[in-house]
Amino acid sequence: MSATRLLLSFAALALAAAMPVAAQESSLSEITEAWLNGQHGDYRSPSYTHWNEDGAVPTDCAACHSATGFLDWLGADDTAPLSVEHPATINTAIGCVACHVSEAETLDSVPFPSGVTIGALGASATCTVCHQGRASTDTVVAATRGLAPDAVSEELSFINVHYDVAAAVRYGAEVRGGFQYEGRSYASRFDHVPSANSCVACHAPHTGEVETEGCLSCHQGVSDITEIRTRLADFDGDGATDGGIRDEFEGLHAILHDAILTYARDIAEAPIGYAEDSFPYFFADSDGDGRIDASEAVFPNRYASWTPRLLGAAYNYQLVAKDGGAWAHNPAYAIQLLHDSVASLSERVDLDAGRLARP
Ligand code: HEC
Ligand code: HEC
Ligand code: HEC
Ligand code: HEC
Ligand code: HEC
Repeated sequence: MSATRLLLSFAALALAAAMPVAAQESSLSEITEAWLNGQHGDYRSPSYTHWNEDGAVPTDCAACHSATGFLDWLGADDTAPLSVEHPATINTAIGCVACHVSEAETLDSVPFPSGVTIGALGASATCTVCHQGRASTDTVVAATRGLAPDAVSEELSFINVHYDVAAAVRYGAEVRGGFQYEGRSYASRFDHVPSANSCVACHAPHTGEVETEGCLSCHQGVSDITEIRTRLADFDGDGATDGGIRDEFEGLHAILHDAILTYARDIAEAPIGYAEDSFPYFFADSDGDGRIDASEAVFPNRYASWTPRLLGAAYNYQLVAKDGGAWAHNPAYAIQLLHDSVASLSERVDLDAGRLARP
């Protein structure tokens, strides 16, 4: 039995002892099975093994990438809460104890990268800690302060909001997880129906899967959640409004992609391209073919001709790319971010942005 396995089964046993008997009898082994099959239990994932060669997960990264780091953040290790004091153990998935230790069960308020704290989170508080991303409007504003919007600056580099940033999108303007343009107003949290209005109301906590039967009982006439739509406007201007709201995202995201490429070529005068699986995602498109191939998607070739305007648009492009559920987490907010990013670039390049609608 590997050390990791041993740690996990020990954690499950310790938890079993603390759980009411009914819960143990009915489902403890099912829960453990569900968790092992879900992503939090996948201890081979890069999310837990990325630091194996270094021997420890650094304090900056530990809260979300190691069970011991999360316990440290919670203050369940006798250190201060809401901060990580020690590098954490490598190769430890997010185990039962991480979410069920009393400090996790009672956690109710969570601070975001913007400094704003959201309260009354209940059982979704732990989710909100790890799925909030690592940057906000404020990060982009601070990096670009005092720079001319369309001047290339060597001081700038891509700002990556991070991954699976559901909570940042869900709370919208309240936490400023997207890059919000000055002078525009943005949707706050997506207030959905009470039965589907929190992380754990929509996602099964142990598998992470979306519980879709409930969705379809209200959203009638669709056979798949990706067909859900209540807004009628043609946000991406393609003339079609019969598909799900997710289709509007895909349309707008593609328009923003092309707008970023056009602006970089014509205004920054250095072609750019996006590679979704390679850090730091935006690279110099040396051959100018509009695509980033494997030889281009390497760190030394990262894009280096950023202007403030390009940086803000790229930030929002990545935010939507890295929240696979943005269309369900907060459709209005995410569409506003995509729309305004295109509108901003269209102040300098010809994009026909007039046909796009804004929620
Ligand atoms: C606020 C929580 C949080 C912090 C802090 C954090 N991460 Fe992450 N990170 C995540 C989440 C959530 C994912 C899951 C994405 C996924 O599905 O693979 C992730 C994924 C990753 C991945 C895998 C990316 C991929 O493409 O699958 C790497 C690498 C990573 N993080 C590096 C870091 C580093 C380095 C740090 C510290 C400098 C850090 N993270 C800090 C939450 C965090
Ligand atoms: C990512 C956080 C997380 C992890 C990891 C986690 N749980 Fe849970 N667990 C929850 C949440 C959230 C609930 C639902 C609580 C609520 O709705 O009040 C829950 C509920 C439970 C319940 C109550 C019965 C039920 O199904 O609602 C038991 C028992 C349980 N978990 C056991 C475990 C065990 C055993 C593990 C490890 C194999 C584990 N949990 C891992 C978050 C987690
Ligand atoms: C301690 C940090 C942490 C907590 C707490 C946490 N997550 Fe995660 N979550 C992660 C990481 C890291 C990953 C990516 C794992 C991987 O790459 O395999 C992830 C993956 C996921 C995924 C799968 C994402 C995908 O790309 O397929 C879902 C869904 C998810 N989490 C939802 C939740 C929910 C709901 C809760 C609360 C009950 C929660 N998470 C609590 C860190 C956390
Ligand atoms: C209205 C229901 C709803 C709420 C509330 C909700 N989600 Fe989601 N979430 C979804 C849907 C739908 C998807 C897309 C799933 C898919 O495409 O398979 C998704 C996707 C995700 C993903 C990415 C999974 C992937 O496969 O890429 C993560 C991680 C996630 N949600 C975490 C959370 C967290 C954390 C919260 C709370 C802050 C939350 N969600 C709130 C419905 C919801
Ligand atoms: C109890 C009924 C009910 C349930 C259950 C429900 N919804 Fe909804 N949903 C609504 C209503 C009503 C609206 C319109 C709310 C609004 O616009 O303020 C809506 C709006 C939405 C929207 C926004 C669509 C758009 O065009 O902007 C999405 C996405 C969505 N729901 C997804 C889901 C998902 C995913 C689930 C399941 C996890 C779900 N819903 C479960 C009633 C429900």
